[in-house]
Formats: sequence, C-alpha cells, structure tokens
Amino acid sequence: MAKRLIVGNWKMNPSTLAEASKIARKTRRISGTLKQTEVVACPPFVFIPACISKRSPGILRVGAQTASPEEGGGPHTGEVGAEMLRDIGVEYVIVGHSEMRAKGDTDAVISRRIKAVTQAGLHAILCVGETTRDENGSYLDVLGAQIKGSLADLGEKSAKNIIIAYEPVWAIGGTEAMAPEQIREMSIFVKKVFAEVFGQEAAMKVKVLYGGSVHFRNAADIITIGQVDGLLVGRESVNLPGFSALLKAVDAIA
Ligand code: PGA
Repeated sequence: MAKRLIVGNWKMNPSTLAEASKIARKTRRISGTLKQTEVVACPPFVFIPACISKRSPGILRVGAQTASPEEGGGPHTGEVGAEMLRDIGVEYVIVGHSEMRAKGDTDAVISRRIKAVTQAGLHAILCVGETTRDENGSYLDVLGAQIKGSLADLGEKSAKNIIIAYEPVWAIGGTEAMAPEQIREMSIFVKKVFAEVFGQEAAMKVKVLYGGSVHFRNAADIITIGQVDGLLVGRESVNLPGFSALLKAVDAIA
C-alpha cells in the first residue's frame, strides 16, 4: 500500500529562524521512525533552506506554500519561481490555499501556478473547498467548478504530479473537522471530477488529502473512515507535541 502523506502547512509561523529549525529538526527525528507515513513540511520561504537536511533529505520532505505563475525568471518583483524552489531542494508546492484565494488568487492564476510547478517537476498540492454549505447541495457545483477551473489548461502529463487537498473553508482554523463519513463522500466526489478532467486512470492514482482542523485526536479516523490518502495540517503542524502524536497515530493505522 502507498504511504500516507501528511503535509504540514506552517502558514506565517514560527516567528524566528531558531524556532523553525527546531520544529524541522524534531519533525525530521519523528519522521525517521515512521514506517508507512511520508511527511512534508511547508515553512515560509525564508525558512526553507534551514529546514532541508543535506545529509538526509528523504526523511522530511519540504514544500513551499505557493509559487509564482510565471516561468523562467524576469521582471516579477516579490515572486518566487518553481524552478528556484526545485533548485534548493523543495519537492512540493501548495497551490490555491483558501487564504491565497481570499487575497485574490483566481482559478485561472491557480492553474498557471500548477503549470509552473509541475513543469519544474515538483508536486502541486491543489487546495479546493467550498466556503459554505447549503441544503440543496449547490456547494457540490461550486466545488466541481473550482476543481475544473483550477485544472484548466493543464496537459495530461501534469496529472501525475497533482495532489488534491480537500479543505472545506468553514472547517479551516476552527475547532471541529468535517465528520469522517462526510469526508469520504467528498473524496469520492473530488475523484469523480478529477476523472472528468484527466480520465479514469489518472483519477484512480490521484492522492486526495483532507485539511481543516485536523489534530492528533481526529487524524486516524479521518484517514480510515474518511478514506483519504493523507492530511493537510495547519496549526497542529507547528505544535510539536501534537504533531508528533498525530504522526504516530497515523503511522499506527494498520
Ligand atoms: P488548520 O488549517 O489545520 O489550522 O485548520 C488547515 C489549512 O489551512 O491547511
């Protein structure tokens, strides 16, 4: 069976380089003891080099929280390109997080970011999720359109480098995750839409993660009952005791 993928989205944390190095070092130590779990840490850009171990890069993989939609350098003040990230050892890039969408990232820009990321040979973790739920189910239409819009204009070759993180926006930064039974339904829906874009075979292989108020107590149920391939973890990923317990709980799933 494929390893479960646990991605830590550190967001704009921690506030010092010393703390970032410590979180990475301790997370790497725990990751080295896991048998069936792959761990990715996504620190802010400036801390990335300090979080990559030259001696054992495979134990804790490192991701970025976004990447420029522009390819090949140029006059793009403030941007960081996917090729630069690859050059320093980054393997994953989160794309289309709801906090980026709220600041103006459209599906069209997100699709260009994914293109730049996958063309650089990195894995894009595409975040999707509805902002609210209504009783007549139109959130499914919203979500379907968001997935298709974010994957528009991408060649079939990109599909193998895309991971989908389903994150209902109302569950992010909250106290309660979505119920695992509902997560299972949503994961099936996400795969169905992915199949409409890239075909059935690609959809069988795509990894679907869940994110939104995941912590060490609910992580294992979300994976087993929710039938997802892994988790995208925000706050708990920079809380060392909690993240360590979460990783152990996930690795202990039969
Ligand atoms: P949270 O954030 O785990 O703190 O809810 C998840 C995310 O935004 O990816």
